[in-house]
Amino acid sequence: MISTKFTELVGCAAPIQQAPNGELATMAALPIAVARAGGHGMLAALTTPASELEPVLDELAAGAGAAWGVNVIVPMTPPETVELAAQRAPLVDFHQGDPDPERVELVHRGGGLASWQVGTAREARAAQDAGCDLVVAQGTDAAGYSRGRAGTMALLQEVLDAVDVPVLAAGGIGTARGVAAALAAGAAGVRVGTRFLAAAEAGADPRYVEALVAAHAEDTVMTGRFAPPDVPLQARVLRSGLESDRAFLAGESTGAVRGVQPAAEIVRELTEGAEELLARAARLAAPAVA
Ligand SMILES: Cc1cc2nc3c(=O)[nH]c(=O)nc-3n(C[C@H](O)[C@H](O)[C@H](O)COP(=O)(O)O)c2cc1C
Repeated sequence: MISTKFTELVGCAAPIQQAPNGELATMAALPIAVARAGGHGMLAALTTPASELEPVLDELAAGAGAAWGVNVIVPMTPPETVELAAQRAPLVDFHQGDPDPERVELVHRGGGLASWQVGTAREARAAQDAGCDLVVAQGTDAAGYSRGRAGTMALLQEVLDAVDVPVLAAGGIGTARGVAAALAAGAAGVRVGTRFLAAAEAGADPRYVEALVAAHAEDTVMTGRFAPPDVPLQARVLRSGLESDRAFLAGESTGAVRGVQPAAEIVRELTEGAEELLARAARLAAPAVA
């Protein structure tokens, strides 16, 4: 297993965080399966009222140990839901809002860790200054709505130079090669979304999974078509869904989706593959023996 500042901080065995998925807002099965497999599981709160979130948090606490968190969309998630998450979740992650020390303090008062998904190095620094324990650098390769304009690798390099807290790389990472590249660059872990859409425990519509399997990196596009009225945000989706007006959110990592697999198999494949690739890279970097 690969130990990093992230795995030590959150107490999991593998530097793989399953991305929060707004389409599975009240479903604990996927984050529980990921946490049990040694990764870190995330639940998206989206617009869930606190009363509906509470039983889901009970399920997570019982099934996922401490390796889980709740994601908040700043302009959408109800304040009581944020407060409940702050009291109960071992980690609360924020997205789509400027880093805010008050929100971070709320999480810390509840005893949890705070993270912020950011799209620029400046935002990463603001998240660190606001007291966040870690940041997620989300490039535009990512599925769904992103904050910034730069791709994951370019953004990750800037963010790693800008902050001291552990950094997760998000967007376009769905294979062991992507995990190894991010870790070798200095990331403390990766956030993986699209690949886990095809986890058995996600229970995705088979047509969605079929479309992901058929697609490659070049088959996704950014569009504003599915954003709420008056929200000028672009989301990355499958081009094939546009014809039938289906918002199949997908990252450039869609080429890594080959079919439905148990989440534990995905965690194992990503971790063991990255270990092998990093060991090979270490041999390349070792001085030649005379
Ligand atoms: C179906 C789907 C729903 C998502 N919903 C959320 C969400 O509610 N909150 C959030 O912060 N990110 C959300 N994301 C984005 C992820 O946090 C992450 O940045 C992205 O999945 C990483 O790119 P990848 O899909 O190429 O791995 C979602 C991603 C997908 C695929």
